[in-house]
Amino acid sequence: MDKFVIQGNGPLSGEIAAGGAKNAALPILCASLLSDAPLTLTNVPNLRDVGTTGQLLEQMGVRVEHPDAHTRVLDASGITTCVAPYELVRTMRASILVLGPLVAARGEAHVSLPGGCAIGARPVDLHLMGLKAMGAEITLEGGFVHAKAQKLKGARIVFDTVTVTGTENLMMAAVLADGDTMLENAAREPEVVDLARCLRAMGAKIVGDGTTTIHIQGVKKLHAAEHRVLPDRIETGTYLAAAATTRGKVRITHTDPGLLDAVLVKLQQAGAIIRTGLDFIELDMHGARPKAVNLHTMPHPGFPTDMQAQIMAMNCLAEGVGTIRETIFENRFMHANELLRLGADIRVEGNTAIITGKARLTAAPIMATDLRASASLVIAALAADGETIIDRIYHMDRGYEHIEQKLAALGAQIRRVDKLL
Ligand code: EPZ
Repeated sequence: MDKFVIQGNGPLSGEIAAGGAKNAALPILCASLLSDAPLTLTNVPNLRDVGTTGQLLEQMGVRVEHPDAHTRVLDASGITTCVAPYELVRTMRASILVLGPLVAARGEAHVSLPGGCAIGARPVDLHLMGLKAMGAEITLEGGFVHAKAQKLKGARIVFDTVTVTGTENLMMAAVLADGDTMLENAAREPEVVDLARCLRAMGAKIVGDGTTTIHIQGVKKLHAAEHRVLPDRIETGTYLAAAATTRGKVRITHTDPGLLDAVLVKLQQAGAIIRTGLDFIELDMHGARPKAVNLHTMPHPGFPTDMQAQIMAMNCLAEGVGTIRETIFENRFMHANELLRLGADIRVEGNTAIITGKARLTAAPIMATDLRASASLVIAALAADGETIIDRIYHMDRGYEHIEQKLAALGAQIRRVDKLL
């Protein structure tokens, strides 16, 4: 199991570039199933989950070319099967995103149920509710979702909970349906908007993406398209939180400050001086210790749940007491137990964590439990006294490209070892 060895080494400083957004690339790769013409994607992040999605598509018969590390050309004209097997789906829940496109374009889909994960039960009932509303016949058998539809029909679908991949799945399903579909109480995440942009480039008729009501007019066929994946706002926020926690000064390029307003507000409340331009964000703590912040996670444009763990790490080293309330997932505080091992003062009461900041943390062996929890542990380790060893960091590779190189470029002392001698 890969481990990180991190030596606390004072403030991060320097400049790094953000990559393409994981949570936009995953649905957009699956959108290739909707068309028989090539889809060319650029600024695709080189991540484990992107690789898994490529494998999932290839085993269906989609041709996936890699002209370079961050470009993919997909051609789904030769699809041979509409099955998403358990051994792939269980490693990545986002595999559920092939469901909508397959039913829409191929009339059937057999997708292994993703099951829960470390942060929660992660049901897909709203995905299935929407497909049924569009006329699909859905059966659950042998741990699979079996979906069939001669031709999906446009429908009015109201989500009782805001769901990002639910919105994405049904937006893709509606693109080739007969008639119009309205998605109400839809997710407004920038990654949903980026998927809509890509679908429009392919010839889809979609308006309202980025608002709570998305209107899709079904079309007969899609055509070849090119799309550049938008910057990763969570990767950007993670490095900014690391800089704030270590009292540093960093500049993140190839990003978009408009994607993470709620995070920038919290970092400013923590005392960071933030300067932004069209495609960069600069954060400067002027060597000061961060101030504790209070937050509650919400669907976009509220504070993103994917940044909760990283800000908890910052609060552990901050001045004062910060309260964090997680309203999206039922079990997304697992990083707290590991942070306690570094000497943090965290009290978890239900979906609320009360963190009393300490001037110093002390290194200890800890273990990553999920993608964003591992980012939280890395941030705390960068600021802790001594050498911290983080186990199971394969979680990180799912969502952070070249993380040790990027952190080293900012002055961190971090190395990856596959076993300790
Ligand atoms: C997406 O997951 C992201 N993943 C997650 O990022 C992110 O944390 C989450 O949205 C919330 O922003 C991708 O985009 C690939 P949801 P998703 O459906 O779509 C409930 C990361 O770290 N719900 O918006 O699976 C659900 O239980 C990952 O990059 C239902 O009840 O999340 C949760 O409480 C982690 N029924 C809430 O909605 C459903 O059918 C929001 O979940 C679907 C969801």
